[in-house]
Amino acid sequence: MRHSFYCFALFSLLGAAALLGQDKTPPAKLVLKAKTGNVTYDHAAHAKREKNACPVCHPKLFTQDAKAPVAFKPPHKKHEDAKASCGSCHRAGGTAFETKGNCTNSKCHVKATERKG
Ligand code: HEC
Ligand code: HEC
Repeated sequence: MRHSFYCFALFSLLGAAALLGQDKTPPAKLVLKAKTGNVTYDHAAHAKREKNACPVCHPKLFTQDAKAPVAFKPPHKKHEDAKASCGSCHRAGGTAFETKGNCTNSKCHVKATERKG
């Protein structure tokens, strides 16, 4: 009985997620191409830090489509000031480090040869 209740609860959750359009399987990592060194966006880590609350980012900040641009092209400061895209968190006074001073220190733009695992 208990087991079937949990099954029902799980399927209800999945159903609700599907209704909200959050039914797509999230990617583990995304590589955002950039001339200054590609940025590896750890989707799993980002989602986990937000306690898997997809609506923190979808659909307001990003579409659920890795082919769509993330709209965070330089100058990054412009997006940070507007609290848009990655800059809604990554900005001075935000919940994550700002881009300034963090370009290549292995946080964001990493040349393929520098990345070790
Ligand atoms: C901290 C922000 C953030 C959170 C939270 C988040 N995502 Fe994403 N997600 C992104 C970004 C950024 C992209 C890439 C969008 C782009 O390339 O335009 C993305 C892309 C996706 C994609 C497209 C993958 C592909 O290959 O096209 C799916 C599916 C997705 N997310 C599902 C989810 C689900 C499900 C959750 C909740 C468990 C979630 N996301 C939570 C930021 C987030
Ligand atoms: C909902 C808030 C939020 C959004 C939106 C967000 N990040 Fe983050 N990000 C964080 C937090 C929190 C951390 C970890 C805390 C820190 O290191 O300052 C982090 C860490 C990172 C890291 C270091 C590696 C890691 O995952 O721990 C990179 C690189 C990164 N983010 C890139 C991006 C990019 C690129 C975007 C836009 C596509 C983005 N983030 C959007 C909150 C966010």
